[in-house]
Amino acid sequence: MEKEKIIVIDGRDLRFTEGETILEVARRNHIDIPTLCHLKGSTPTGACRICMVEVEGARTLMASCTVPAAAGMVVRSETEEVIRSRRMTIELMLTSGRHDDCLVCPSSGDCRLQELAFRYKVKGATFEDTGVKYPMEAVNPFILRDFSKCVLCGRCVQACNEVQVNEAIDFGYRGAETKIITAGDRALKDSDCVFCGECVQVCPVAALVPKNARKIPRLSETEAVKTTCSYCGVGCQMNLHVKNNQVWHVTGCDETAPNFGQLCVKGRYGFDFIASDHRLKSPLIKENGEFREASWDEALDLTAKRLKEIAGIHADATGVLTSARVTNEENYIAQKFARTVLKTNNVDHCARL
Ligand code: FES
Repeated sequence: MEKEKIIVIDGRDLRFTEGETILEVARRNHIDIPTLCHLKGSTPTGACRICMVEVEGARTLMASCTVPAAAGMVVRSETEEVIRSRRMTIELMLTSGRHDDCLVCPSSGDCRLQELAFRYKVKGATFEDTGVKYPMEAVNPFILRDFSKCVLCGRCVQACNEVQVNEAIDFGYRGAETKIITAGDRALKDSDCVFCGECVQVCPVAALVPKNARKIPRLSETEAVKTTCSYCGVGCQMNLHVKNNQVWHVTGCDETAPNFGQLCVKGRYGFDFIASDHRLKSPLIKENGEFREASWDEALDLTAKRLKEIAGIHADATGVLTSARVTNEENYIAQKFARTVLKTNNVDHCARL
């Protein structure tokens, strides 16, 4: 029998399986090691150094998100040295670019760096400001890229390359000039980006925000209402972020099948129709080439009458077209109606091969 593997974290003996990192074992056991660059489900990069922990016998602190647990390892997650290191890292991040405008920042209340600064009581940057190296990119249809907020954690790169596998962005240039770029450092709209917005969802600061983020309520000011995307038959689970009875943001539900947080451009950004003035609010009946509003009773009576008349002449003159935007149950009812009421097998569906 394989010998049980035990690691000690903060004085607790914890079992682990081969390949698990210190962070994974800690999280599974509700030990709170803070992270910033770590993106669940993708390869750990150890880019931010927030998750540093003390490992007995090691000469330096170690990034718990990248170091595999080992039998007999003794780890301390929140010692004075660890806290000093985290405070220093937070200060350095606050120094890069502009992180002194939380009052007007669109991500305030939903910013990992702000949260960490609060947790470790870091008031602001004590080092010299590195300044803003690259201008804001506001030419894209859905996404605003504010490089002055970017802390180069690489979560957007992982989301794009490993989660959505679009491979539209990566790290570019070197050293202090490092920037997240598309091929040829073009704007997202001129790149392979498909505007799925996965990068926006995982950005821990306000480097990537919705295009209109400064004009709409912040995510933290809205209430999340879970629902199913109605654009296709996949059934992605999403949160509609609502304030004053209006939807302002859409995010994927992280832990829920089938999409586990991922969305496409339609699901994430195609929600203006909900409050559109062009939406039909009542049935329309066409008379003498013109549409007029009608009640549901009138519209349904007329539809039933006309279907009966037409089916009475030739059953196969009628048919039913259904949609992947409705549920399986609704599609089932539609074909049942066609076959048993209209007596036709003319049934088709937009998602048919
Ligand atoms: Fe571990 Fe960033 S979370 S290095």
